Amino acid sequence: DASDIEKGTYPHYMLKEIDEQPLVIRKLIQKYQDENGTLTIDADIIKAVNQSDRIYIVAAGTSYHAGLVGAQMIEKLAKVPVEVHVASEFNYNMPILSERPLFIFISQSGETADSRAVLVQVKELGYPALTVTNVQGSTLSREADFTLLLHAGPEIAVASTKAYTAQLGVLSIFAAVLAESKGYNLEFDLVQDLGIVANAMEVLCDQKEELEDIARKFLSTTRNCFFIGRTMDYYVGLEGALKLKEISYIQAEGFAGGELKHGTIALIEEGTPVIAISTQEHVDLSIRGNVKEVVARGANPCIISMKGLETEEDSFVVPPVNELLSPLVSVIPLQLISYYAALHRDCDVDKPRNLAKSVTVE
Ligand code: G6P
Repeated sequence: DASDIEKGTYPHYMLKEIDEQPLVIRKLIQKYQDENGTLTIDADIIKAVNQSDRIYIVAAGTSYHAGLVGAQMIEKLAKVPVEVHVASEFNYNMPILSERPLFIFISQSGETADSRAVLVQVKELGYPALTVTNVQGSTLSREADFTLLLHAGPEIAVASTKAYTAQLGVLSIFAAVLAESKGYNLEFDLVQDLGIVANAMEVLCDQKEELEDIARKFLSTTRNCFFIGRTMDYYVGLEGALKLKEISYIQAEGFAGGELKHGTIALIEEGTPVIAISTQEHVDLSIRGNVKEVVARGANPCIISMKGLETEEDSFVVPPVNELLSPLVSVIPLQLISYYAALHRDCDVDKPRNLAKSVTVE
């Protein structure tokens, strides 16, 4: 309950929760380590997943965006096919399922009615379900067979920040442990790489002035804003656009870089801000090509890249981390840019109009 949690010296819960992210990731590593320091997931969960032939992730809002990234982690590391679905759609339009599906519900609150409606159907069909949630004892946690907790502490601001990065953290651990159970050798040490992520998050949280300047320069008067990226960066762009919409009321959309030319580029006008994210080496050139296309039509580009891929044109550079974990890091500048855009536009950051923290109606 908001009244029990102090904002301390922070003007808003959202800013406090953004700043808590390095700590949340460090805590998460500890919570998922066994006595030998090895990352571990309940053996029953791994067994159930290994008995299934496909994972279906079902979620809403920011948790859906975390699911998109998590699916990539699972497919890349554990080589298990994953589908990601919006709960409210899946509920009315269930796809043809594989023979032995396993469901993962991602929900910060564990109370989202759209997700619960799917869980009820899934349980009726007799399929195993795992809930990834921040709230122990929540409805989705109680009704699923298994639960993985986010350990992020209460999230009060309506716009989700630390729950998103905690979801990605848990899903990365899940993917890595699953991969090892299948005999795949990870080429990196996830404990170490998540530690690097936490340090990078700290560096980013100390760059608020720079990010406030970016928000002022690109977003203080604009009507709309586009986010582009490819693969993981595309999914982060979707989350960046959602954050900006939610709290600043700027019309914002995230697009796959290559899809721009198939329609959206018609919306680019003189001065339209386009935030491009580049943290994945294999798509760096193509996303920069997309930036050139929008610049040629008058866009005002803001490129956010990862150290190692940066060029002189870039507005902001995030520290280098494992590419698979880059969303945990690249989302921080997007959260902070949205926060400052909302402030500059005199919006109610913690309680945006028309939105609720947890939506318990379908
Ligand atoms: C609401 C919130 C969003 C959240 C979504 C899913 O719409 O405003 O911030 O992402 O519900 O919530 P959940 O608790 O299921 O993650």
